[in-house]
Amino acid sequence: MSIYTATTTAPVNIATLKYWGKRDKTLNLPTNSSISVTLSQDDLRTLTSVATSEKFNEDKLWLNGKEESLGSERTQNCLKDLRSLRKQLEDSDSNLPKISEFGLHIVSENNFPTAAGLASSAAGFSALVVAIAKLYKLPQSFSEISKIARKGSGSACRSLFGGYVAWEMGSEEDGSDSKAVEVAPVEHWSNIKAVILVVSADKKDTPSTSGMQTTVATSDLFQWRIKEVVPKRFEEMKKSIIEKNFPLFAELTMKDSNSFHATCLDSYPPIFYLNDTSKKIIKLVHAINDFYGETIAAYTFDAGPNAVIYYLEENESKLFSIIYKLFNKVEGWSSKYSSEQLGEFNQEFEN
Ligand code: ADP
Ligand code: DP6
Ligand code: CO
Repeated sequence: MSIYTATTTAPVNIATLKYWGKRDKTLNLPTNSSISVTLSQDDLRTLTSVATSEKFNEDKLWLNGKEESLGSERTQNCLKDLRSLRKQLEDSDSNLPKISEFGLHIVSENNFPTAAGLASSAAGFSALVVAIAKLYKLPQSFSEISKIARKGSGSACRSLFGGYVAWEMGSEEDGSDSKAVEVAPVEHWSNIKAVILVVSADKKDTPSTSGMQTTVATSDLFQWRIKEVVPKRFEEMKKSIIEKNFPLFAELTMKDSNSFHATCLDSYPPIFYLNDTSKKIIKLVHAINDFYGETIAAYTFDAGPNAVIYYLEENESKLFSIIYKLFNKVEGWSSKYSSEQLGEFNQEFEN
């Protein structure tokens, strides 16, 4: 008896232009295009191993050490697509083992909080789909595979690529043109870094899938966002990345995070992902940018209270000195600035 295995890691991507809203729930087709930055594999990532054998007569998933139900429609859709691509290969080459008929055992681990607004569904479904595509030796391109990951979780399609990535919403009813594409590789603008401020590692009470459904159904502001705001911002943000214009990229990123959370508040009943600490971080980043007289940092929040702050590497000391001072502890870092130097900032911030 043979056992076939494959393992992969997939990084988290954090959207700078948010996906929020589906026009087709089963195919996970979005109401707007989105843009994200994929973080390094050395930071937040999912590690997924898959095995298949004729002895396995059902599909099983263990997530973070606990067996989870694999019954969800989204996961079933991914497995169905992957199996059908493998079946095509097997039909065209009789030497290939017919592993598409076997059960799959999937073991996955996130090295960061799951379902807390740090894009676990993005890294999770990207890793799941890529691991099985590897196991099945599928020849399809990353963009093609991204369409399968998209059916698992919309944001997952963007984690197939590193660097700066767009998810083009597409217009076809069958979703054949709703896929991730590279805007620029990480080397194009490699001095951007992200710091994550974990405000709460708790599981959110409104999952992204149901939250966006409420917004689509009830928010008037949302209609304005998808028709008037996002299409223009999508082009501007791509341009800011191509031109490596950090102040513009930062402004668009912060505005889009605020616009997305405004549609959450405009949903009925309202959805609150930001808490008081999140709001304090928003004020802090604006105060830091004002203090230095230039935009050196940009916050963004997914569907949860945790902040991701993008900044240029050369401004790390400027940014971290203040974060360090206010939050007292940043792992692996100590302030190079004196208390007196930072006292001036504190006084301004508290006023
Ligand atoms: P997040 O903000 O973390 O993306 P979501 O509400 O979008 O939160 O999705 C969380 C869900 O994604 C989890 O409850 C789980 O079903 C799924 N998920 C997270 N990590 C993985 C993983 N490694 N493998 C498979 N599914 C995962
Ligand atoms: C706020 O991709 O998690 O993070 O497609 O229902 O799984 P589903 O939702 P998900 O939503 C992500 C929402 C967001 C913004 C983004 O990542 O673009
Ligand atoms: Co998610």
